Amino acid sequence: MATKLAVLATLVLALLGPVSCQQQQAGYGYGAGSPTPTSSPPPPAAYPPMTTSPTPSSPTAYPPPPPPTPSPPPPAAGAGLSVGYYKDKCAEAETIVQEAVRAADAGTKAGLVRLFFHDCFVQGCDASVLLKPDNDTNPQPEMLGVPNLSLRGFEVIDAAKAAVEARCPGVVSCADIVAFAGRDASAFLSGGAINFTMPAGRYDGTVSLANETLPNLPPPFADVRRLKAMFAAKGLDTVDMVALSGAHSIGRSHCSSFSSDRLPPSNTSDMDPAFAATLQASCASSANGAADNTVVQDYRTPDQLDNQYYRNVISHKVLFASDAALLKSSDTLGLVYVAAFSQKLWQDKFGQAMVKMGGVQVKTAANGEIRRMCGYVNKP
Ligand code: HEM
Repeated sequence: MATKLAVLATLVLALLGPVSCQQQQAGYGYGAGSPTPTSSPPPPAAYPPMTTSPTPSSPTAYPPPPPPTPSPPPPAAGAGLSVGYYKDKCAEAETIVQEAVRAADAGTKAGLVRLFFHDCFVQGCDASVLLKPDNDTNPQPEMLGVPNLSLRGFEVIDAAKAAVEARCPGVVSCADIVAFAGRDASAFLSGGAINFTMPAGRYDGTVSLANETLPNLPPPFADVRRLKAMFAAKGLDTVDMVALSGAHSIGRSHCSSFSSDRLPPSNTSDMDPAFAATLQASCASSANGAADNTVVQDYRTPDQLDNQYYRNVISHKVLFASDAALLKSSDTLGLVYVAAFSQKLWQDKFGQAMVKMGGVQVKTAANGEIRRMCGYVNKP
């Protein structure tokens, strides 16, 4: 026990440094990358077919990792953004968003944490993920990209924006609302334990392209090298990446996101066999066999944002190859053990990493706008 603690203490110091107190089958795209694509029902009716998106034909055909730095590194914490940005401009803004998030159910709250991540990794944190398809100007925005088909929580952002606009029109960006909502959802789902301030002052982008999603958002079959490269491309290091992965302690996944490479009979994964059997049963239990069921990501505390995720990684009871991959390099493995060992250390790191992610490629008045409605760019 003493040796274990010494090892963990060393890992904490070496890896974390000073810590402040702080889809139901194939329909969601990744399943289309199955090595055995025997069943590929069309995408859910709510989404148009992915005719022009670069859907991967197999995991190995997936595009290579992006070059090390395709996007400029995010500004240093606070550069261009500030805590309490709306204090003098729209004092109620953060409270209004918080109330909208409070009213959402746990699943939607999980969706809001993911929405923030998916917004920031494509075109930066600029609410580009919210732009709706427009036949004339942009028929294939980000929200129609394969990784985004299962996003949820858009209605919460719209409700918050409507309430904020009623109070202070034209002042609060959708990008900031997404960031506040991700922060607030994290707080609610952790019972208030993850509680951090989110700098604001982002402007909304005007560019949103479905074909930028696959190259920028890590796929569930990514290995650890690709994961590190894709986070580094956004200015996020390995500590940030491992900390943020703890978000997989909440929410759900479609079976199509992991069944082909992780479940029997085609799997060669290191998943715990009993856990795999449970998932297989849940994924197969549709009435007509065609549905793409969803399962909880954290089989123990599915609605709590906590460090149970890291225990699940260690016990090989996680859904994705990308989750399991965190045991495959010594630095990520060490960080997984540290997070599993100390809830508090991980909570602090998670908050810091969310703030850092919120600084990725932030837009300003020079290259952005304050949208009037989050789903549409402003008409001139
Ligand atoms: C490390 C690379 C990551 C990969 C490969 C990945 C992949 C995925 C996939 C495939 C799903 C399931 C989608 C579905 O089938 O419905 C998912 C769900 C989710 N992810 Fe990630 N993710 C990653 C990182 C993150 C990060 C950084 C966050 C947030 C900080 C996050 C938050 C979530 C949440 C909350 C869900 C559940 C969403 C819901 O229930 O609606 N993920 N992720």
